[in-house]
Amino acid sequence: MCGIVGYIGSRDATPIISAGLKRLEYRGYDSAGLAVIENRHIEVRRDAGKLSRLEALLAEQPIHGPIGIGHTRWATHGEPSARNAHPHLGAKGDVVVVHNGIVENFAALKEELAAEGAVFRSDTDTEVIVHLVERYLDAGADLPSAARQAIRLLKGAHGIVLLSSREPDKIVAARVGNAGGVVIGVGDGEMFVASDIPAILEHTRRMAFLESGQVAIIRRDGFDVTTLDGKPLDVEVHNVAWDPVAAEKGEYTHFMLKEIHEQVRSITDTIGDRVDFPAGRIVLPTLALTAEAAQRIRRIIITACGTAAHAGMVGKILIERIARVPVEVDIASEFRYRDPLVDDETVVLAISQSGETADTLAAMEEGRRRGATLWSIVNVLGSQAMRLADGTITMQVGPEIGVASTKAFTAPLVDLYMLAILLADLRRAPGETERRRMVADLRRLPDLVSNCLDRAPAVESVARALKDASHCLYLGRGIQMPIAYEGALKLKEISYIHAEAYPAGEMKHGPIALVDKTMPIVALAPKDPWYEKTISQVEQAKARGGVVVAVATDGDELLPRLADLILWVPETPWRLSPVTTVIPLQLLAYQIAVMRGADVDQPRNLAKSVTVE
Ligand code: F6R
Repeated sequence: MCGIVGYIGSRDATPIISAGLKRLEYRGYDSAGLAVIENRHIEVRRDAGKLSRLEALLAEQPIHGPIGIGHTRWATHGEPSARNAHPHLGAKGDVVVVHNGIVENFAALKEELAAEGAVFRSDTDTEVIVHLVERYLDAGADLPSAARQAIRLLKGAHGIVLLSSREPDKIVAARVGNAGGVVIGVGDGEMFVASDIPAILEHTRRMAFLESGQVAIIRRDGFDVTTLDGKPLDVEVHNVAWDPVAAEKGEYTHFMLKEIHEQVRSITDTIGDRVDFPAGRIVLPTLALTAEAAQRIRRIIITACGTAAHAGMVGKILIERIARVPVEVDIASEFRYRDPLVDDETVVLAISQSGETADTLAAMEEGRRRGATLWSIVNVLGSQAMRLADGTITMQVGPEIGVASTKAFTAPLVDLYMLAILLADLRRAPGETERRRMVADLRRLPDLVSNCLDRAPAVESVARALKDASHCLYLGRGIQMPIAYEGALKLKEISYIHAEAYPAGEMKHGPIALVDKTMPIVALAPKDPWYEKTISQVEQAKARGGVVVAVATDGDELLPRLADLILWVPETPWRLSPVTTVIPLQLLAYQIAVMRGADVDQPRNLAKSVTVE
């Protein structure tokens, strides 16, 4: 989705903003632009297409100045074009705005402003914001107050950053609802603002995060925050622990490949100090869960989107089997409109890498309205899903830049496993010996992941065999069923091969009709409690001429006789096996996409953080 970067200080804003926008490329966009105050005059450069087009434009018509804002746009209202790209200038050319989100009442506002004489030069909803700010500036308000008055009229969710050459000593930034974050970076005699941490991480780790309904007035030596009514607020500055180097590609050709290979480290960090190995116990202090509260829980609803929802499906099996608490998995965009049955004995657990996915946040808010306890599993520190929740477990994976989620899929699997063990312990579920064994199994996991990654070269021959397929079927059963969904999602989103996933037992109820020699089948069949049942489905597919690729446990003697190709994984305790079986599928999708010449890190039509409904 759209990205925002702003700078105020004594350096030249243009290269700082351009570099920041480059770091947000992964979010997905189709046009880009930048505005700088140069000698008390606002200069704008913007164009459709990738940032390289904007860079070429800036090389032809350079602009320089110590204050500026930039934007990468993912079109919602109006096609991707230079005239619709942000920033948008007001009629007099002395106010300029960039915006994430949708102005839901823009048609009515546009009509009202046009009647007052405003001339619109784009098809965007955003342009009404700048005309509104101009209206209040012309009536005598200062910039912060004009911005607040304008924003109060907007319906919908927004991240807004604006500046004016009438008051060239400040940037105004605001957040309303869940259209993505607004992060303020505190430097030494300079300040930054952005929609996401990686955009400004190379300059500072001291950051403040705006909540919904907050407006920041950012000057080169500091910032103030108010409500939309102008009431001053105290906002904490955090020290963000992310490593700026982690946001670089390094020796890897793509962020996705780098992030797949980072999983030994990310799993190690996610286990971190949350396991007391000698005591055989899990410690999750940020969840703030007491034994009494754990015993009151009657039901957990896991809500998430896409890959995060697949992690939730694994979580359901783990929590139900280990802690014996009923769990439902609800796709966030469905949950909020279904009039769900939720009460104060329900926990709504949101899983989100970005912590800013609009549907997931709305599902959390729905849960809150109905009295549920809110938990979240998030990666981005300070994100809205973290702030909304009563308790959080963080994924410790660092920035995930590749649009296709990989390390932020395996980390929540570990978080959910630890949560299940903690819940079982606090609810006094029987099985002390079993608990100690499950805790001890975590110690082996980073090595098992490393072992899977060492086998990356073996995935290549399977990728070569599948790269020209038009369709592909993924099958899994029990705890591997969500991994089939995840494998299929990875393949379709980055290689554009149509891939479907089914619970293996469902094959005979319809999908088997599709099977012939042109339809490869990827079957997840590690040695787990569902192994035999999965094998019988593989046999049925093979009998109908399907080309079968099996994910199998080292030493399996049956599958090499049944399957055409094998992706071997090391023997892993079954409750943790999704962490190892998904790795060859991540690598398979990656290698096929590369072989097909696809843009792996920024697949078409996709955005990293989906901040619109
Ligand atoms: C797929 C993918 C998406 C995200 C989904 C939720 O590879 O990354 O399906 O998982 O958009 O995003 P978060 O986790 O940020 O809420």
